[in-house]
Amino acid sequence: QDKADLVIVANRLPVDRFRLPDGSHEWRRSPGGLVTALEPVMRSGDGAWIGWPGSPDDDLEPFVEDGMQLVPVHLSAQEVEEFYEGFSNGTLWPLYHDVVAKPEFHREWWDAYVTVNRRFAERVASVAAKGATVWVQDYQLQLVPQMLRDLRSDLSIGFYLHIPFPPAELFSQLPWRRQILEGLLGADLIGFQRTGAAANFVRLVRSRVGHKTHRDTITLPEGRVVRAAAFPISIDSAGFEELARSEGVTRRAEEIRRALGSPRKIFLGIDRLDYTKGIYARLKAFGELIRDGRLDVEDAVFVQVATPSRERVEQYRILRDDIDRLVGQINGDLGRIGRPAISYMHSSYPREEMAALYRAADIMVVTPYRDGMNLVAKEYVACRFENDGALVLSEFAGAADELKQAWLINPYDINGIKDALMAAFHSDAKEQTKRMRAMRKTIVEHDVAEWAASFLSCLEEADSLRGRA
Ligand code: G6P
Repeated sequence: QDKADLVIVANRLPVDRFRLPDGSHEWRRSPGGLVTALEPVMRSGDGAWIGWPGSPDDDLEPFVEDGMQLVPVHLSAQEVEEFYEGFSNGTLWPLYHDVVAKPEFHREWWDAYVTVNRRFAERVASVAAKGATVWVQDYQLQLVPQMLRDLRSDLSIGFYLHIPFPPAELFSQLPWRRQILEGLLGADLIGFQRTGAAANFVRLVRSRVGHKTHRDTITLPEGRVVRAAAFPISIDSAGFEELARSEGVTRRAEEIRRALGSPRKIFLGIDRLDYTKGIYARLKAFGELIRDGRLDVEDAVFVQVATPSRERVEQYRILRDDIDRLVGQINGDLGRIGRPAISYMHSSYPREEMAALYRAADIMVVTPYRDGMNLVAKEYVACRFENDGALVLSEFAGAADELKQAWLINPYDINGIKDALMAAFHSDAKEQTKRMRAMRKTIVEHDVAEWAASFLSCLEEADSLRGRA
């Protein structure tokens, strides 16, 4: 097997394993934006993708799927519990999202995080060609850059954090804060969603590790330079629009509207079932609008799709129960026959169904307490090629930096959410068009291919500087 010139390292492989009725299985490309962005680059050269196949029983050899070389990293059941559910999603995830839920700190979880990060680094070291480019993704793998540099100083190493990077006051709670900062500093270039996140990181490196910094560059004692900057991620905008325009999706969108009792206006939420997303608050706000008589179930319905996620982590179970109860209460109190106030689905859907929902929805509601970017907001905009529809968006989502023409809200302010939902509900075509046009321009100009290209060219630049030093 050839060594790879470009190696993507992520906790998950870009494919999901599907069991077939006869007991065998097949791989299907996962719907994530990252795969779409990196696929052309992966195919054009000798690329490899290193990741966990997603279930504890798999111990697989590298394989080629859909033209991509995939290298699985095995995790034992205990590592899934301590590295994935534990340190990644019980410690880092809540800590990095403004401690919306309380992070737990356990030394065994940390030990598993170190062990698994080392396994990933070793796997990269064995598949990367001399002088290859390695791009490490997200919070599950923050120690990989330095571990990899220790093994292979010839590599050009980039790191991208898809989730927020917290302010120093919160990050400093972490007993292993210094190790994480030093792990990341193994990279030549560290990318964040927002400029504020990059600034948080640089400030921490200065105060906690004591390195010299100047704007977005950090100089290490041995003279090596690390850059930390914002590269806001995006979606395959053209691909989504094309899908939204397709005959199948158009037909399906009409079907959805009819089923929900057209001409009722449709409010839509689509999220992983996660406590950072503010699903509870938005449904509560909607319920109150009906109870107060500002909305009527004859005129409006809320469709909420919540994709199952991290179901073995306790906080996620609690949230699921809370939302089940709230939806039951609101529908029980306020629904009428054939007119539930909320249509709630706890399942995941293919891209086509999502696009049909985006096209059917009059008002898209995105209310996270904290979110790295939020691609759902961008997908909605991409699908609204007729320049209509309204987006209600939390100012605490990275997407708010770019989608400034949305109806921006503070998700902690329920009355503010209610007022924004009403303003969006009553907005006229002229107002919607003005806002949607501007937002569409932004996401057409900045799609995910541009995101990947700009990160990689910055990394190449950083690398050539390193070569000269
Ligand atoms: C977020 C993270 C990703 C993660 C995804 C799904 O978008 O940034 O790294 O893969 O959620 O979560 P899961 O735990 O199922 O991988």
